[in-house]
Amino acid sequence: MEFLKLAKERYSVRQYSNKPVEEEKLAMVLEAGRVAPTAANKQPQRIFVLKTVDEIKKLHECTRYDFHSPIVLIIAYDKSVSWKRKYDAHDGGEIDASIVTTHMMLQAWELGLGTCWVGSFDPVKVKELFAFPETFEPVALFPLGYPSSDAKPIPLHYSRNALLEGVNLFTK
Ligand SMILES: Cc1cc2nc3c(=O)[nH]c(=O)nc-3n(C[C@H](O)[C@H](O)[C@H](O)COP(=O)(O)O)c2cc1C
Repeated sequence: MEFLKLAKERYSVRQYSNKPVEEEKLAMVLEAGRVAPTAANKQPQRIFVLKTVDEIKKLHECTRYDFHSPIVLIIAYDKSVSWKRKYDAHDGGEIDASIVTTHMMLQAWELGLGTCWVGSFDPVKVKELFAFPETFEPVALFPLGYPSSDAKPIPLHYSRNALLEGVNLFTK
């Protein structure tokens, strides 16, 4: 699919069918994340693939956003690995994990799969329930699966600022 068409068509899917996701498709989504650019190529992303009902149910303690998808990825980064900006020690890990997530989101859509970035979760609970090493920071919960036949975008999907709103061209 032409890229801009894909980017415009994709929307956050909040209703999933129970059709299982093929292993090859899951692998392609993960591959799209693997090749994403990261600061200084540190590749600090750490991805957890939850595929069983019991694993996914555990998330109920961490978020109210469960869309009953067959798969949920937890995208995290390892802060002992991520690049730190020398001027202010800013940690690039969250940006890196976000680029990885965006790559996977767009690849998923191209394969006919839906995703929804879930940022509203309790990070302390996620770390505890999934026994994260001390240095891992969760960035996104990421339901993945085939959209159900009645899935549709919510009105927010259609609300985007005009092209030049928020863009400064520095021209007179
Ligand atoms: C960083 C981030 C966090 C988000 N967190 C949530 C969330 O917790 N729950 C949810 O339902 N959607 C969440 N979303 C989805 C946004 O609401 C959605 O992308 C936005 O409204 C635009 O709609 P669209 O993705 O359908 O185009 C999040 C998206 C991003 C990028």
